[in-house]
Amino acid sequence: MLGTEKEINRFCLELSEQDVVQRIYELKAQLGSRLLILGHHYQQDQVIQFADLTGDSFLLSRQAAECKDAQYIVFLGVNFMAETADILTSLWQKVFIPDINAGCIMADMAEACQVRRCWEVLQRSFPGEVIPITYVNSSAEIKAFCGENGGLTCTSSSADGAFHWALEQDMKVLFVPDEHLGRNTAFKAGIDPEEMAVWDRQRNRLVGPENPRVILWNGYCPVHQEFSPDSISAVRKKHPGVRVVVHPECSCETVQAADEAGSTEYIIDCVRTSPAGSVWAVGTEINLVQRLSLEHGDKKIISLDETVKPCPDMLKISPRNLLRCLEGLLGDRTENIVAVDSKTAGWARVALQRMLSIR
Ligand code: 13P
Ligand code: SF4
Repeated sequence: MLGTEKEINRFCLELSEQDVVQRIYELKAQLGSRLLILGHHYQQDQVIQFADLTGDSFLLSRQAAECKDAQYIVFLGVNFMAETADILTSLWQKVFIPDINAGCIMADMAEACQVRRCWEVLQRSFPGEVIPITYVNSSAEIKAFCGENGGLTCTSSSADGAFHWALEQDMKVLFVPDEHLGRNTAFKAGIDPEEMAVWDRQRNRLVGPENPRVILWNGYCPVHQEFSPDSISAVRKKHPGVRVVVHPECSCETVQAADEAGSTEYIIDCVRTSPAGSVWAVGTEINLVQRLSLEHGDKKIISLDETVKPCPDMLKISPRNLLRCLEGLLGDRTENIVAVDSKTAGWARVALQRMLSIR
C-alpha cells in the first residue's frame, strides 16, 4: 500500500491515462460495497463513468441520506454537494472529494457573516416575519443559519416546494444566494415583481419596495447567467421548431423566453420523453448537453449558446485526482475528506431534512 501523500502523488502522476482508468476500476472492485461514488450530471464523461449513482443535487442529497452501508462516499461534483452528503450521512461514514478546491463561484458570493448582517437588518424592519431559505449551493454555515432560524434549504428541483411552504405561513422569504433562481421561483409562485426586493451584498442594504414579500440575495451563477433572451432569439431563427429548455439559474428574462425551465433532472426528462426527431436547445452546463446529445441520437440536442464556457469548478475533478483520492482513502489519508463540524452539521441537517420532507 502507498503510504505518504508524496508516494501517492508520484504513483498517480506516472501512470498512463489508460492505466489510471484500469486502476480506478481495480480499486472499486477491491472496495466493493464499502465504497459509493456519487456523480453530478455536470461532470465530464471521462469522470462520470466511475459513478455508481448519478443525479442532480436534490437526487444526490437523497441518495446520500439513504446510503446506509457504504463506509466511504466519494463525491464527483463540487464542495457544497460533498458537504451536504457529509451532513446527511452517519458519523462512521466518510465523505471524500477528489479536489478539495472544487468550489462554486455562486456559493462564494454569500458568506455567513454577511447573511447574519442582512438578517439583523431584516429583523429590525420585519421582526419575526421572515423565513430564510438557502439554495444548497451555499456553505454549511449558511445552511445551519437557516435551520436555526426556522428556515430550510432547497435545490433547483425543490425550490417551488420551499417557497410554498414559507408563503403558506404568510411569511416573507429571504432567499440566498441565487437572485435568479429566487426571482424565477417567486414569479412562478405568483409573487408580483413589484413585491421583490434585492439585498445588495456589496453595500449591505435592501434595494426595492419598502415592504417586500421576497428578498433576493444578489448572487448568481456565472455559467448560467451567460444564456440570454438574445441567445434564444438566435437559436429560434437558426433552427425553426426548436424547443428551448433552460436551468432556473438563468435570468428571469431568459426563463420567460424559453419553452421550459427546470433542474438538471427536469431537463434530462424533457429530452428523454420527447418524440424522436425533436430539436432541443439546452441552456445549462455543456458537459450535460453533450452527453444528452450522444445518448439521444434520434434527436438533435444543441447548446443554447456554444460560446458559454463549462463550470470551472466541475472541471477540477479528473480521473487522475479521483485515483489519488481512492489510493489515499485506502491508506487512511485525510487530504480529501470533507467533514463539517458537529455543531454546524446539526442545524444544517435540520434545514436539509426540512427540504427532504416537504418535496
Ligand atoms: P441542480 O440542482 O440542477 O443539480 O444544479 C446544481 C448546480 O450547481 C447548477 O449550477
Ligand atoms: Fe456553481 Fe454555477 Fe458551477 Fe453550478 S454551474 S457549481 S452554480 S458555478
